[in-house]
Amino acid sequence: MRADHLWTGARLATMRPDLPGLGIIEDGVIAAQHGRILHAGPAADAPAFDAARTTDLEGRWVTPGLIDCHTHLIHAGDRAHEFELRLKGASYEEIARAGGGIVSTMRATRAADEAELLRQALPRLDALLAEGVTTVEVKSGYGLTLQDEVKMLRAARALAGLRPVDIATTFLGAHAVPPEFAENHDAYIDLVCRSMIPHVAQHGLADAVDGFCEGIGFSLAQVRRVFHAAKAHGLAIKLHAEQLSNLQGAALAAQCGALSADHLEHVDEPAVRAMAQAGTVAVMLPGAYYFTRDTHLPPIDLFRIHGVPMAVATDCNPGTAPLTSLLLSMNMAATLFRMSVEECLTGVTRHAARALGRQADIGTLEAGKACDLAIWDIERPAELVYRMGFNPLHARIHRGIS
Ligand code: NIG
Ligand code: FE
Repeated sequence: MRADHLWTGARLATMRPDLPGLGIIEDGVIAAQHGRILHAGPAADAPAFDAARTTDLEGRWVTPGLIDCHTHLIHAGDRAHEFELRLKGASYEEIARAGGGIVSTMRATRAADEAELLRQALPRLDALLAEGVTTVEVKSGYGLTLQDEVKMLRAARALAGLRPVDIATTFLGAHAVPPEFAENHDAYIDLVCRSMIPHVAQHGLADAVDGFCEGIGFSLAQVRRVFHAAKAHGLAIKLHAEQLSNLQGAALAAQCGALSADHLEHVDEPAVRAMAQAGTVAVMLPGAYYFTRDTHLPPIDLFRIHGVPMAVATDCNPGTAPLTSLLLSMNMAATLFRMSVEECLTGVTRHAARALGRQADIGTLEAGKACDLAIWDIERPAELVYRMGFNPLHARIHRGIS
């Protein structure tokens, strides 16, 4: 069988759902052709390959390329000043209500052009890629006008032309009420539903639509309108839900068939059941939990009991998670949320793929999927979760190319 590239001597953590645990295959081989996996399995039953190139991995571990399924990577400026205010005792919500928070990043983002947004985002993207990430989801939500949201989404799409990475874009117009609409929040939702979503859908700028369902964000009724508009335009949906309080956002997301509900510190059991039924992924964002010094843990046990798939992501954003390490995010998910090594690793691969609706294409090492690999200098997979601030990546392969 012809192959472009054959990797031998590999220990594979395939993340295959039909195998137990991490789907481990010792003494494995991977063959790739035209950027896709042709074969991934034990050397003993591999067909004979006529490979243009062969690499002996000498026992190194291979996982699917990592997937960061929730980021706000595109934004201008930082909020180090608000961080200092929080160190003096102000809360995230107080700062938001005083006109800081998301709206302060909105001002900086409106003032930047697309080139400037890219210039500021690339170092963050490079930090993720250096840890074996091959797919990144990027949200808008700091423009809050049609023109500025479009600018953010175009910048996000452009990242894929500048680095070897897949980018999934999410329209987050319903992130915060912009100051122009301070007196009439529903009029802003009108704009999101009647003008922004149709435009974004028509121009293929977003793969999904997200919202922030919260006291300092949008009500359940407003989010419902956003979801209906998204679905009417053929877009998938996701939601920032139950981060600071329980507004029943996750239950609505599940009812509407959302790909994921994210944060979920305050979610209740009926909503978890609804998520299980709908196949909605719970995206855990322990970096935001850590950075805001939250103490209300998401109900990991309920997700387990009801069989809700859990993903782990950075939430990279200037306000609540200035974090560009998916490895550290896994360590936080384990240490703070008590997620297991297996849950953390499937959470940045197979379940993260599902949170993006891309489970047919990425997230496991299986024939037919994209050949996105992370190759690690480790003795056992637990090291990827265990260390803090250490990067054991040996090589990163995106679409079959290193
Ligand atoms: O995922 N919660 C809303 N969105 C972000 C925070 C955005 C910001 O503060 O800039 C989050 O935590
Ligand atoms: Fe977020």
